[in-house]
Amino acid sequence: MRTKIVAGNWKMNLDVETSKKLAMDISTDIQNLETNNTRIIIAPTATNLYPVFHQVGMDTRIELAAQNMHQAKNGAFTGEISAEMIQSIGINNVILGHSERRTYFNETDTALAEKVSTAIQNNLDAIFCFGEVLEDRQTNNHFKVVESQLQNALFHLCEKDWKNIILAYEPVWAIGTGETASPEQAQEMHAFIRTVIAKKFGETIAQNVSILYGGSVKPSNAKEIFSQPDVDGGLIGGAALNSTDFVALIAAIQ
Ligand code: PGA
Repeated sequence: MRTKIVAGNWKMNLDVETSKKLAMDISTDIQNLETNNTRIIIAPTATNLYPVFHQVGMDTRIELAAQNMHQAKNGAFTGEISAEMIQSIGINNVILGHSERRTYFNETDTALAEKVSTAIQNNLDAIFCFGEVLEDRQTNNHFKVVESQLQNALFHLCEKDWKNIILAYEPVWAIGTGETASPEQAQEMHAFIRTVIAKKFGETIAQNVSILYGGSVKPSNAKEIFSQPDVDGGLIGGAALNSTDFVALIAAIQ
């Protein structure tokens, strides 16, 4: 059975105290939920990872993720953080290739291929994000674009690497816009993603990898999206900043 995952990307929001409070609220609010077979991941900004990890460290249901990392082991890369640094504070996950990183910080598929490898070498789970922009969808190029993003960043992996990969399909036109892919659009793309992975790596890997949907998921639309057979959870932005909403999303996947 594939693992279900609800991951909250807090982006560049909250200071250390409000981050700790949000994490604690989530920890308290999930107490009455049956969360078996669901990974709950939160991704505070880099400065708040360590304090939040300490705040909820005893709550084994909540994992943390970094929002980005550099592909190099270490060196003269001012402002960056490495996989080893993330590991050294006890964190085992990293989001890679978010569309905001691709758009505002020019992250390329080539750099992302290296980042994914570095993450895996350091035993981090990589939440690899990808998805088409509106124009790709309007011109019916969305499948081609998604296929090439997967090919360019992930096709160099070997089979055993896939245990560290979580995929997050996030159509760029749905991120932070209030506009969501319909459950049918999400299902259609997720099924396509599995066929792309199956062709290269085989059916077992394709069936076992968790594929999250991201883009304006909220309590009012989560149940329908999460109930699609190839959707294994969500990568959540705005709704992850409110513990009631985030916990409602975790409830929606049960
Ligand atoms: P959103 O963001 O839920 O606010 O659309 C999703 C994301 O950026 O991962």
